[in-house]
Amino acid sequence: MGSHLRLGVNIDHVATVRNARGIAHPDPVRAALIAVGAGADGITAHLREDRRHIVDDDIARLMAVLDKPLNFEMAATGEMVAIALRHRPHAACIVPEKRQELTTEGGLDAAGAHNHLKPIVAELTKAGIRVSLFVDPDPKQLDAAVSVGAPVVELHTGRYCEVEGGERRSELARIAAAAAHAAKVGLECHAGHGLNFDTVGPVAAVPNLVELNIGHFLVGEAIFNGLADAVRRMRALMDAARAGASE
Ligand code: PXP
Repeated sequence: MGSHLRLGVNIDHVATVRNARGIAHPDPVRAALIAVGAGADGITAHLREDRRHIVDDDIARLMAVLDKPLNFEMAATGEMVAIALRHRPHAACIVPEKRQELTTEGGLDAAGAHNHLKPIVAELTKAGIRVSLFVDPDPKQLDAAVSVGAPVVELHTGRYCEVEGGERRSELARIAAAAAHAAKVGLECHAGHGLNFDTVGPVAAVPNLVELNIGHFLVGEAIFNGLADAVRRMRALMDAARAGASE
């Protein structure tokens, strides 16, 4: 299983730092280009309802300059669907969004929101956008993703990253079981949230995963060693984990 595992770099928190001053620097689009130059296979950006980091103009500029796929993270709202249809990014990842949360705290309840999600997934798919649902590693949510017509799921790795020891091992087993279930039901499987240099290896070694999306840690690490270095190290850790898994 030496297949290439794609790295999507989430540049939201470059915009967080920019917005703290209300000026143009640091520019998340510049960060995206550096990340691609250092080996990112794609860029992820989450346009939140409150525009706390990425803003509409960032999406327009990313679409204009990127020669790698943009994964547009969005809540399942009419406003965000309209924006996605206007820009037609390569992919859209539908996430749950609560105004007060610091970050995307849990996976989407695809099973509970079936009737709301199905027409949205259909509309985005019709526009040529590859839709993924950000869900907890729970087979019930993967079955729900199939039933709303999504071709891709992204498994939430936040809990795996938060806990330690035996609990982390059992979270990893849940992720591996969910990735196996995704393959069985015909879903492309991604994963992400909270990953860093210490936690990425075991996830990267999970069979059937084809993409990891990583943001906050890379942007934080960039403060110390630069973004290109952080992306290259993450890429190398992912490749080493994949190579080890195939031995
Ligand atoms: N995937 C999804 C769907 C997310 O919402 C986020 C956070 O915006 C990430 C991946 C990346 O998480 P982190 O910034 O913790 O690496």
